[in-house]
Amino acid sequence: MPFKALANIPKVNKGIRVPVPKISSNRAPFSGSATPSAMIYIACSGPQPSKKPLKKPPTLLIDSDALDNNDQINDDFKNIFSSSKTVLADFSGVKTDMHSHLIPGINDGARTIEDSIALARRMHELGYRKLITTPHIQQDYFKNTPEIILGGLEKVRTALKAENISVEIEAAAEYLLDDGFEELAARGNLLTFSGKHILVELSYFNPNPNLKTIVFNLQVDGYKVILAHPERYTYWFSSFEKYEDLKDRGVLFQMNLVSLAGFYPDPVKKYAEKFIEKGMIDLVGTDMHNMNYMAALENSLKEKSLARLIESGKLLNNML
Ligand SMILES: [Fe+2]
Repeated sequence: MPFKALANIPKVNKGIRVPVPKISSNRAPFSGSATPSAMIYIACSGPQPSKKPLKKPPTLLIDSDALDNNDQINDDFKNIFSSSKTVLADFSGVKTDMHSHLIPGINDGARTIEDSIALARRMHELGYRKLITTPHIQQDYFKNTPEIILGGLEKVRTALKAENISVEIEAAAEYLLDDGFEELAARGNLLTFSGKHILVELSYFNPNPNLKTIVFNLQVDGYKVILAHPERYTYWFSSFEKYEDLKDRGVLFQMNLVSLAGFYPDPVKKYAEKFIEKGMIDLVGTDMHNMNYMAALENSLKEKSLARLIESGKLLNNML
């Protein structure tokens, strides 16, 4: 994986020493007609002159579409992006998204199969290779069952194949820890992914008073509990030890990427960054619902904290 491979590259002044890709003289990989939004700017130190150092590091302007279409330089330049610590080119370093709402018509995400196709297509373009989509299961609002979700998954899979979108897709669920969850857990018919990982969320108003017991029982049954978007539970912001206690109990934390882009009201972004600083984030997810989320997801690529998180090598996404 390019991020890990570059972990030991030494810093040169304020820039980074990076491998310089070989570009054949008769090709112009950076020409093209990309829109401004498709342009990615990176600053790098470049080769260091022995006696007359550059006053300013050169700025490289790269057309990301040309990059994607040019096999000759693709890998080398992705390495440059990944080591810039300023911007990321895409989410190829994450590889697998494990939180989204792509199955149409069964919760508050994609409404139609066309929505599902458009969202999955763009996520694939942004570097994702595998999507584990997780419709809500809630006692009051989204009474989805494994049969409903897996039936919907097959429809999406068929549609993506017909559209030649070669992204792998699986389904699990995002379980709200409400009064109905314990009954579902007792029945043992829970949707999981990658070896009994289960994605759970809490109410945005009150935590479940039985949370510790629920987590304990799930773990005894062999589940690996993932808490969705810890940065969104505002009632715990003034008692951070609640989070630390959950971490001590082996709960994995999944941050929403869109939180870093300021998608939610303050101070969610600040807390997302705090979790990153403290090394408490194990997984990142898009929580993709619609194109508004997509725009925020793309904006998150500009966040330095995200580059640092991915480069830390701590994320488990690419093992799913
Ligand atoms: Fe979600």
